Amino acid sequence: MRGHFITLEGIEGAGKTTQRDVVAGCLREAGLQVIVTREPGGSDIAERIRTLLLDPANVGMHADTELLLMFAARAEHLHRRILPALGAGTWVVCDRFTDATYAYQGGGRGLPVEHIATLEQLVQRDHRPDLTLLFDLPAEVGLARARGRSAPDRFESEQVQFFERVREAYLARAALEPARMLTIDAGREPEAVAADSVAAVRAHLVRAQAGQGAGG
Ligand SMILES: Nc1ncnc2c1ncn2[C@@H]1O[C@H](COP(=O)(O)OP(=O)(O)O)[C@@H](O)[C@H]1O
Ligand SMILES: [Mg+2]
Repeated sequence: MRGHFITLEGIEGAGKTTQRDVVAGCLREAGLQVIVTREPGGSDIAERIRTLLLDPANVGMHADTELLLMFAARAEHLHRRILPALGAGTWVVCDRFTDATYAYQGGGRGLPVEHIATLEQLVQRDHRPDLTLLFDLPAEVGLARARGRSAPDRFESEQVQFFERVREAYLARAALEPARMLTIDAGREPEAVAADSVAAVRAHLVRAQAGQGAGG
């Protein structure tokens, strides 16, 4: 069986990295092979592009450059790492993917959605996540958490209004694709968020097994 592609989304401090281990653990408990990865990055060249994207010294980067670098990194990650894993039957848990581009470069930077959709089609063809968990919380709560963590990168240096636009764009995408994207209230204590993550993954596993039984 092909592996499934699960992505985790949300603004800074939403708890994606914390919940990633919960999701991966849940899949491994079910006996599945799992890799955990992230965007931008996840492969050698993509991680070098990540450094360019996050470096606060690149404050003058044009928004189009940012968008193209995101998809350049994604092409590397998808072709070198994600697709080979899925083809070998390994499940892939990824901290951010293309929904983040719609949210940050679309909602946050204000780039046209059609430009993003064109690049998505070019780079991904018909490859999309099988399940996406959106960890949702107010921007100021997420930013307060993230700022307690490390020195701010180029995105974390943005104002709270930027992240409110990112949050709204994420929620709009979740409303458009409710079958794939599940919104989880990430403003609660980690255990409550983890319980919802586990429930979502288990429900997805049940659907995946049912689909397989039906010859899917
Ligand atoms: N539900 C939660 N409540 C309070 N703090 C949390 C919660 N989830 C994560 N954190 C803490 O907030 C910070 C950001 O979490 P992290 O998982 O790194 O978020 P993200 O990867 O989405 O930016 C970390 O210090 C983490 O320990
Ligand atoms: Mg993180």
